[in-house]
Amino acid sequence: MIRFDASAAGIAEAALASAAESRALSALSLLENGAGAGGEYTEWFRLPEKGGGLAEIKAEAGRMSGMSEVLVVVGIGGSYLGARALMELLTPEFGPKRVIFAGKDLSARRTAELMKYLGERDFSLNVISKSGGTTEPSASFRLLLGLLEKKYGAAAADRVTATTDPARGALLALARERGWRHFAIPSGVGGRYSVLSPVGLIPAAFAGIDVESMLAGALEEKTRMLSLGSESPELRYASARRLLAEKGFSGELLSCWEPCLRGLGEWYEQLFAESEGKEGRGIFPVSLEMPASLHSIGQFIQQGPKTLMETMLHFKDDGPDLRVPSSGDGMDDDLSGKSLGGIASAIRRAVIRAHCAGGVPVMSVEAEKPCAGEAGALIWFFEAACGVSAYMDGVNPFDQPGVEDYKKIMKELLRNE
Ligand code: PA5
Repeated sequence: MIRFDASAAGIAEAALASAAESRALSALSLLENGAGAGGEYTEWFRLPEKGGGLAEIKAEAGRMSGMSEVLVVVGIGGSYLGARALMELLTPEFGPKRVIFAGKDLSARRTAELMKYLGERDFSLNVISKSGGTTEPSASFRLLLGLLEKKYGAAAADRVTATTDPARGALLALARERGWRHFAIPSGVGGRYSVLSPVGLIPAAFAGIDVESMLAGALEEKTRMLSLGSESPELRYASARRLLAEKGFSGELLSCWEPCLRGLGEWYEQLFAESEGKEGRGIFPVSLEMPASLHSIGQFIQQGPKTLMETMLHFKDDGPDLRVPSSGDGMDDDLSGKSLGGIASAIRRAVIRAHCAGGVPVMSVEAEKPCAGEAGALIWFFEAACGVSAYMDGVNPFDQPGVEDYKKIMKELLRNE
């Protein structure tokens, strides 16, 4: 269950409640009914119930897992960040990685290293692209497919799974021609809202994540949101962001208080940046890892231009009770005997007070603990809040026309190389 607190954001409760009851509720109704700009891309709103063919997804993940030590997920943007967020949140940081990501960089160094690594292991490929023709993953996929075919010959086709548009695109055509298994990203689901479709669920199931519980967590949060309406964490968060933006706070820091939330932070950046940043509008989203970032950009937050709002994202459950031993010199200090979680909580409370005093409005988002159900709830929370926030600001949350600009120039450059 997600909890939201805006008591340290310097917003009058009456103003927050009024924005949530009027503007946010209207925005939610546009989302729910697909009646706003880009309404044809609101099918993600129903993904928690649908589960996107869970039985087939689990069977496919099990099949690949049976033959491969490693799954390489090839994709970029919404075809990569959600799955990576799930891996970081729900699989151990230390130990062999079963899911590896490619296609989001064009580094010859990393690709050569990856190919060498895969040369010594059994692997499968899950190539993900809604459009089916994005340059970065296409280039990477061709190299990895070449390696796969060299290694497994005719049997390579059994080791490729494509996740793409159900009706069009070069990847779908190739999958049909080569006889690869392919899964649909529903046409009404855009890339950055696709993590609860086969885009996120296949890699997650391969990694052993409990995808049923994840969808159940998303559905529970959605049901709670719809029943609480203007009092839901989603609508209050969206309203608080907008009220702060209207006061001149044009950037949001998502401060993540667990290393395993870092991937979710990057997913949040894409979700909000592509959904809101258009027509000269939007709140610039940046994610931080706390407390590490206090020692890198903390100075700027505290005393730089007063344009930043901050959202603390943390878990209620601190994890194992690890106590700091005394220093051993017989002199007890402030750390001796304290739990790591208790120290982190003291730092967080200190940061909230200091940042508020420094003119940075602070909001908090709390989830129970890093588990599949709460991952689903967090995904729902941010997706719904983002859609509502964008509609409250009068922009279409589901297009990204600006991303096309570099692509046009790049295509011309590549043609002439
Ligand atoms: O949110 C989006 O739609 C984009 O960020 C896409 O996910 C990204 O550009 C990758 O596109 P594709 O899945 O078509 O390769």
